[in-house]
Amino acid sequence: MAKDQLKVAVAGATGAVGREMLKVLEQRDFPAAEVVPFASSRSAGTTVPFKGGELTVRELREDSFAGFDIALFSAGGSTSEKFAPLAAKAGCVVVDNSSAWRMDPEVPLVVPEVNPDDLEWHKGIIANPNCSTIQMVVVLKPLHDAARIKRVVVSTYQAVSGTGQKAIVELENQVRRLMSGQEAVAEVYPHQIAFNCLPQIDVFLENDYTKEEMKMVNETVKIMGDASIKVTATTVRVPVFYSHSESVNLEFERPLSPQQARAILSQAPGVHVLDNPREKIYPMAVDAAGEDDTFVGRIRKDETVENGLNMWIVADNIRKGAALNAVQIAETLILKDLVRVK
Ligand code: A2P
Repeated sequence: MAKDQLKVAVAGATGAVGREMLKVLEQRDFPAAEVVPFASSRSAGTTVPFKGGELTVRELREDSFAGFDIALFSAGGSTSEKFAPLAAKAGCVVVDNSSAWRMDPEVPLVVPEVNPDDLEWHKGIIANPNCSTIQMVVVLKPLHDAARIKRVVVSTYQAVSGTGQKAIVELENQVRRLMSGQEAVAEVYPHQIAFNCLPQIDVFLENDYTKEEMKMVNETVKIMGDASIKVTATTVRVPVFYSHSESVNLEFERPLSPQQARAILSQAPGVHVLDNPREKIYPMAVDAAGEDDTFVGRIRKDETVENGLNMWIVADNIRKGAALNAVQIAETLILKDLVRVK
């Protein structure tokens, strides 16, 4: 079968990321003969927009995958745990946006600009990394190649869309209620998110870090393929709808000036340097929303260590952090002839 006859399933197509996956497939003219949206039984029979028309959502079931070549999953960890192996067994290559498979040694964890060759050892499931990790490693990789990163200290400022559609609605509702003198109702987050910052993303673990923080630590090492890189993270949810921002401090083995880093990053795939502090030019969440690139600026020397840099990294968490990266993985699979086309 020719590649433009690929049949693509999108699992979780009614969610914030699933809808964006459909949009990215359309915008990039992905070579699919057919795209089919799946979600829970709650949404079966509803429609989602695609290529100027509407696609009818089907219920995701155990026998849904026969005849499909690629399945893009963004329907939560437990759905992936159950359905991704079934899809792979049915002959589909799965690109999974949940955290269910990311640290499985049998599953490649891929950012196409960083480690595309890891796709070559896939066994049917490929994991899409955590949103905060993706945008960071796109910037880290070319700098690591140039001067060897020893340590990363990252603090994030993460948008509510990373939690899904219901969190977008919660922030909207809280802002509306507070502005009209009513109390904020918190259901998705443990505390009010409107006009607030929550230093908790996901649950706390034994070591007092959150699960999100440990995802950044462990996933960065797996994607970069270098266990010697030390990472420590503080992840914070902020009242922003789209785009995650990150303050990143890097310590290198070898000297790397801000000018050299800017020159390297201006050539890096998927990276856009926005760094002119005198003109008040730097990356911002509202500008990155809807964009494909990862933006980096405020690049400056860390004057407290021998070879250190500070920088500010911003990307649309739903696009590069999720839907776009997943579609880029699928495109790279096609390019490398790694889709088991029936
Ligand atoms: P549904 O809309 O039918 O609940 P978000 O991350 O924005 O909350 O979206 C989650 C996505 O995952 C939605 O499309 C949701 O579908 C889907 N989903 C959640 N649970 C299941 C399930 N058990 N089976 C299939 N899809 C699911």
